[in-house]
Amino acid sequence: TAVTQATAKAPKTLAIPDAQTVTEVKHWTDRLFSFRVTRPASLRFRSGEFVMIGLMQTDEKTGREKPLLRAYSIASPSWDDELEFYSIKVQDGPLTSRLQHIEVGDEIILRPKPVGTLVHDALLPGKRLWLFATGTGFAPFASLLRDPQTYEDYDEVIVTHTCREVGELQYGAELIDSIRKDEMLAELIGEDFADKLRYYPTTTREESPKMGRITDLMRSGEVFSDLGVAPLAPETDRAMVCGNLAFNLEIKEMLEDYGLREGANSDPKEYVVEKAFLD
Ligand code: A2P
Repeated sequence: TAVTQATAKAPKTLAIPDAQTVTEVKHWTDRLFSFRVTRPASLRFRSGEFVMIGLMQTDEKTGREKPLLRAYSIASPSWDDELEFYSIKVQDGPLTSRLQHIEVGDEIILRPKPVGTLVHDALLPGKRLWLFATGTGFAPFASLLRDPQTYEDYDEVIVTHTCREVGELQYGAELIDSIRKDEMLAELIGEDFADKLRYYPTTTREESPKMGRITDLMRSGEVFSDLGVAPLAPETDRAMVCGNLAFNLEIKEMLEDYGLREGANSDPKEYVVEKAFLD
């Protein structure tokens, strides 16, 4: 009948909701890539926040197309025309096994509702800001480090990044380099802003100038002697943490031992934590 024909002909794939177009893809290692997409005109966000992004997938039971979404920190600054993301590639990960193959011109889903706790609003004023990252946990800091407010609010900004291998540090290292040369930031906050930014990369499974987990290097005091700063204290230091779960839990306990308390948007304190997305 006409009715069953119409049903049979109904399109199986719906138009992608909240679609944005991929404008750039960079593969850093066999485990890491970054990409940029168009930014919805209405999207406003605070540096350090995340959004849900993903791809359509076919539901095995119903055969219907539905969105497969994960939380991704926005790595680009809030003034940028586009949005940047930094991602792991997991070969059997539901999303990243597919997302790693995106190319310029492809569409992804981006829900334009930014949220998160790694924001300046969740911290009380302080003198020194520590940004502690492992792996793709660097992403929200890539946004915060390009935000003039980060340098306006603090005398010193120390970013630590611990990865397994040297190649996994490259995205962050190049970004730090480009920030130090950034003329717009220099103009906005003064030529000496770059002196405020300290970068402390470490590796755990491949030889590099500084080896070891940041947590161990803090316990031994090596970080503090390397940087020539005192251990963290609640009067002066603020911290943002983004990494794998075990790291987050361990450093959280250490920060509490230093006397820092966990803050939130509605209740700013001395440190904030967020889990890096691992597919
Ligand atoms: P390690 O190589 O000793 O496990 P991953 O890629 O697995 O997310 O890990 C990123 C980095 O975080 C690695 O260098 C890893 O070190 C480190 N790491 C993992 N767990 C912890 C932890 N509990 N404390 C500090 N660093 C950690």
